[in-house]
Amino acid sequence: MILVTGGAGYIGSHTCIELLAAGYEIAVLDDYSNSRPEAVKRVQEIAGKTFPVYEGDVRDEALLDKIFKAHDISCIIHFAGLKAVGESVSIPVEYYDNNLNSSLALCKAMKKHNTTRLIFSSSATVYKDGNPMPLDEESDTGCTNPYGWTKYMSEQIFTDAAKANEGWTIALLRYFNPIGAHASGKIGEDPKGIPNNLMPFITQTAIGKIDKLQVFGDDYDTPDGTGVRDYIHVVDLAKGHVAAVAFCEAQSGVHAINLGTGNGTSVLEMVQAFEKVTGVSVPRQIVARRPGDIATCYASCAKAERLLGWKAEKTLEDMVKDSWFWQNSNPNGYEE
Ligand code: NAD
Ligand code: UD1
Repeated sequence: MILVTGGAGYIGSHTCIELLAAGYEIAVLDDYSNSRPEAVKRVQEIAGKTFPVYEGDVRDEALLDKIFKAHDISCIIHFAGLKAVGESVSIPVEYYDNNLNSSLALCKAMKKHNTTRLIFSSSATVYKDGNPMPLDEESDTGCTNPYGWTKYMSEQIFTDAAKANEGWTIALLRYFNPIGAHASGKIGEDPKGIPNNLMPFITQTAIGKIDKLQVFGDDYDTPDGTGVRDYIHVVDLAKGHVAAVAFCEAQSGVHAINLGTGNGTSVLEMVQAFEKVTGVSVPRQIVARRPGDIATCYASCAKAERLLGWKAEKTLEDMVKDSWFWQNSNPNGYEE
């Protein structure tokens, strides 16, 4: 059985569906600090399968003990964590506490219960600014905010733990920018309060919840002056995790692997793609750069293809269409 921490969240919920479709048994552990039980209910509806769900904190070692005793956990996919960069600057201690202590608690549980495989949600944010593009896994690392450091430090914790425990296999999956939603329109990203990322801002502007999309800077050294990122469909990303589970069954050691598409898309290109696919216009205004942003960030995905036999397949149009279908079908997210 695979233990999915943070399985009620955006990426976790989509991954649960793909794991179930591939025939894996799963259990979910989530404290719903940034998600709702409704997401898990919908995963079960889409998959036509039920699975054990534990409400609680990954840092709760007694709860982990209970879960590992109740099930034969062969692999953990660790999505649970706090993820808002700006918030991490305001409440760094909460970020270090949650994200590092959950990694440590899982290492202890793995050792205690002889689980040898773990897949960790890392991020492109572990790469230092100033690297040549595309970023491959040998690019220089270094962070600029507490959230990024929790990813960097968790990678180090898992790497050291794997060195000390023979037979452990750890996949450090470095995600680029996940967007999109399940094609059913039943699950998707449901940011609490004001969104942080571009796509929820676009869809919420298109639906009229937000007056205007603010485009953060048009004077970057990019073809149209706006920031360029590597957007990946969340279902492709979810399938990358299924491929990583199979990889970890066959390999040992620690492997950092980028999950992106290898394509860069600017803010204005994204807005244009959205308007073209949906026929809905997105009012926008150019404002100052957002502090801490970089001009361009996209992945080399050669290692994922080589090791996992995985490649992102969905187009920018798919990403936009599915994000919009989810937003339109659920104007208030999971709240209704
Ligand atoms: P999310 O907030 O939707 O999902 C995280 C889930 O973890 C939530 O359901 C939350 O309730 C739960 N959680 C948080 N702390 C917990 C704890 N201590 N115990 C139990 N549950 C806890 O976020 P997401 O976008 O699905 O991201 C999943 C992971 O991927 C995170 O670790 C995030 O840092 C990482 N990541 C996300 C992105 C992105 O753009 N979404 C990019 C790179 C990396
Ligand atoms: C953010 C995180 C990063 C994380 C990544 C993937 C920050 C500073 N960084 O990066 O750590 O790994 O998400 O989840 O939050 N934009 C606008 N207007 C908006 C929102 C965004 O113009 O309202 C622009 C940004 O300037 C950027 C692009 O859109 O050029 C993408 O922004 P965003 O979705 O926040 O992702 P990242 O900046 O890549």
